[in-house]
Amino acid sequence: MTDFRLVMLSDTHVSATHPFFFHNFDVALEAANALNSDVAIVTGDLSLNGPHAPADLDFAAAQMKRLSAPVTHVVPGNHDVGYSPAAKDAEQQMTPERRQEYLTRVGADFWHFDHGNWRFIGLNPFLFESGHEAEAEQRAMVVEALTHDGPIGVFTHVPFFADHPNEDDATTSATVTPGPRADYLGLFKAAKVQFIASGHLHRDKRMIFDGIAHIWAPGTAFLSSGNDKWGGTPWVGFLEFTFSGDSYSVQTHEPGDMLNIDLRNWARGEGHNYFRIAAEPFRSPGV
Ligand SMILES: [Fe+2]
Ligand SMILES: [Fe+2]
Repeated sequence: MTDFRLVMLSDTHVSATHPFFFHNFDVALEAANALNSDVAIVTGDLSLNGPHAPADLDFAAAQMKRLSAPVTHVVPGNHDVGYSPAAKDAEQQMTPERRQEYLTRVGADFWHFDHGNWRFIGLNPFLFESGHEAEAEQRAMVVEALTHDGPIGVFTHVPFFADHPNEDDATTSATVTPGPRADYLGLFKAAKVQFIASGHLHRDKRMIFDGIAHIWAPGTAFLSSGNDKWGGTPWVGFLEFTFSGDSYSVQTHEPGDMLNIDLRNWARGEGHNYFRIAAEPFRSPGV
């Protein structure tokens, strides 16, 4: 039996030019590193505005290297590569060029690796229904990885559903859409997947369906208290997983030095002010 620990950070939203959320990232990073975990995973929205400002991806990639765990992996969020082209109303969509910027500046966007008797799979959910060549490549990798004989955990930016796998929400960008949701959850159910851990909604939440735990991680950057329909707890922090043989447990960490930055105001009115504010000069007192 091999015991090990894993820290999961999500939604760090860091930028060298617009450091709204850097304090929280730095505090969370320090607290995560103090746990001396064996593995660290970051589930997307690493950068503030990667699709618009690729330099944010460089800065985010460099910051993630400060995680001290011997094994560290990241997956992309919509603020790193953009949404799937199938999300017609999304402000930013993942073009092949934007995906390539991520691959060059950060690394692989889907992967798997083994630790102890566990296998972990990382996904790029914006390839779902994208029509990109890599959409089929990712699915083939998943099918192959799911043949693992031991327990499996999945890490991805976007949760597979909000409350129930049968939700009829074909145009949602909050979760995976019904087509790929049914496809992938079917694959996971037929294999030894124990949990799917995700970020994106910046809420701490747990659900279990078909024996698979759906674990939502809080973001390190901010919360948004304005919309309670997703459930869970909007807060800031990160997760720690403890693995013992085929079993695992999850603990939420909320370091006291983090700021509960609430983006409720930015979401008021038409659209979301995130992209406008992230593109304006940062309001700094200078030095
Ligand atoms: Fe996010
Ligand atoms: Fe996101």
